[in-house]
Amino acid sequence: MTVIAVERGAESRFPDEPFAIRHGLAGHPLLSLEALAVLAGRLDRDRVEFNSGKLKPDQRPEDVPTLDLAPPDVVRRIETADAWMVLKNVETMPEYRALIASALDDAAKALGRKSASAGGMRDFQGFIFVASANAVTPFHMDYEENFFVHLAGPKAMHVFDNRDRTLVPEEEMEVYPGKHRNLRYRADFEAKARVFEMQPGDGLFLPYTWPHWVRTGNRYAVSMAITWKSKRDVRLNALYFVNAVLRKMKLPQPVPGRHPWYDGTKVALYRTARAVVEPLRRSEGMRRRLRTVFFGRKANYYYGEKAEG
Ligand SMILES: [Fe+2]
Repeated sequence: MTVIAVERGAESRFPDEPFAIRHGLAGHPLLSLEALAVLAGRLDRDRVEFNSGKLKPDQRPEDVPTLDLAPPDVVRRIETADAWMVLKNVETMPEYRALIASALDDAAKALGRKSASAGGMRDFQGFIFVASANAVTPFHMDYEENFFVHLAGPKAMHVFDNRDRTLVPEEEMEVYPGKHRNLRYRADFEAKARVFEMQPGDGLFLPYTWPHWVRTGNRYAVSMAITWKSKRDVRLNALYFVNAVLRKMKLPQPVPGRHPWYDGTKVALYRTARAVVEPLRRSEGMRRRLRTVFFGRKANYYYGEKAEG
């Protein structure tokens, strides 16, 4: 069965520009509200993030209102809770992993590749968004490629060109674990948006680091981001991370690509450090301690911890 189909001409724009897709995942039993409520209770707590959905596109991270509910209840009460929730890394559950892998293979085939892995789509992950009516996901970017499949209710994604540095300055492209995703947004950006209005069965391809903000319509909405990284994305992510760390040490860095040999040294340094830290990150408790040690308590914002001082 064709799970994902892409709009005409998409092949030539992939992976540099967004385009609309259609899919057959709406109504899948693993994606019903009850299945997602169960999933919300099974995932590690740091893989479930939620807050009030009454936000604005320019919401400041420190002003995001919290919500005092257990994760499964947020899903079950989504019609009335005024909530916004994301279930992260759902591919850690075998049945969701299988679903995502097959959808991604299908998308790769629709784009003329033999399979996702033959198309260089590595490290695939799944994120499921459950949001009440009239909820806003503020302006942000994601450090991966994304087939966004919309599953329930109406939703609009406002997408902006990531080559436009007047929207997101180079410094804000840098990233580290626990950095709040919201970026600075001004109302005059809107003239540059391409708006994808979606109903269940619609979706889009969202390229690496293209900024966007999202709003649901007059009823609750469910969507899934099927993400992966190319070799280029993995390298850029390493550079954005090392550059963020060096900037924190008052050593701001040149833009990736300006000094390729120096970039190469930083990527090698990152990979060495990562090989040491990665085995520790398998436990939730250790992930939490590592974030606190390196980036402060604010980096655990999804537990509702407050920054010191
Ligand atoms: Fe996003």
